[in-house]
Amino acid sequence: MVIIKECFLFGNIVKYMEIMVVINKISDFMDRCVTGISDLDVILDGGIPKGNMILVAGSVGTGKTTLSTEFLIHGTEKNENGLFISVTETTKKLISNLDHYEFFDSNAIKNQNLTFIDAASIYELLGLKKGDLTLEEIYFLVKAIIEIVDEKNIKRLVIDSITSISFRFRNEEKIRNFMLLLAKQLSERGCTSIMVSEIPPNEKKYSSYGVEEAISDGIILLNNMERGGDLLRTLQVVKMRGSSHSRAKYVMDLTPIGILIVPLLRGGL
Ligand SMILES: Nc1ncnc2c1ncn2[C@@H]1O[C@H](COP(=O)(O)OP(=O)(O)O)[C@@H](O)[C@H]1O
Ligand SMILES: [Mg+2]
Repeated sequence: MVIIKECFLFGNIVKYMEIMVVINKISDFMDRCVTGISDLDVILDGGIPKGNMILVAGSVGTGKTTLSTEFLIHGTEKNENGLFISVTETTKKLISNLDHYEFFDSNAIKNQNLTFIDAASIYELLGLKKGDLTLEEIYFLVKAIIEIVDEKNIKRLVIDSITSISFRFRNEEKIRNFMLLLAKQLSERGCTSIMVSEIPPNEKKYSSYGVEEAISDGIILLNNMERGGDLLRTLQVVKMRGSSHSRAKYVMDLTPIGILIVPLLRGGL
């Protein structure tokens, strides 16, 4: 009888432990911003830790804008509003490119779940003249971005690119201030962000000044690689704080149904 009782108790403890494992898994999952690019979510062990600021670095044509845009579109499917601040391309051009995606619903823009803003219009609104920004002006720039985040209840933000926006900062201290201030405010709001970093091909660094990669919680590196006469796009997660992720190099394909990522088969290089 005692043995049966102990077995029953033991059984309950095992059940309890199993339930706790499931609960921990669920809470881990809930602390993640699921990018919606399913192959990437697997590589990231569930997604980007919520509220983190990451860099998506790569040279021209490696798919930085495509990946960032897809991250925002999938957010709208999960009722997470997205904001894309464009510094390099006009928002008109970016929006017209969205039609390529089979999964894009244009109502997301009409309903303001997805917002595209030119950085130039924020500068204009703030009355910022051309040339280098002062520390005080940078503070106002962050404040203006956060006001939009609050007003539209933004949970995913993209700045394309941090490289272009920092052309007007021109020194490490100002970039550090901008990113730290922005990252703190976004994190407090549970808003996950991607800073696009433009780097030359085969660059050893992931950003122009180096401070961007030090401050970011994560780095996803996109690259071009020649193989058998083809130019392949590759993706590699270099760092992702709070995540046990793969650091392998993958092949990334841009398709109308979204980004597909497959392991890079060794050999034949
Ligand atoms: N869905 C897609 N299918 C095929 N090619 C695409 C798709 N989306 C973008 N591309 C192509 O991929 C290239 C790089 O995309 P982009 O994201 O703009 O790169 P980056 O921002 O790194 O310069 C572009 O030349 C574009 O035409
Ligand atoms: Mg781009």
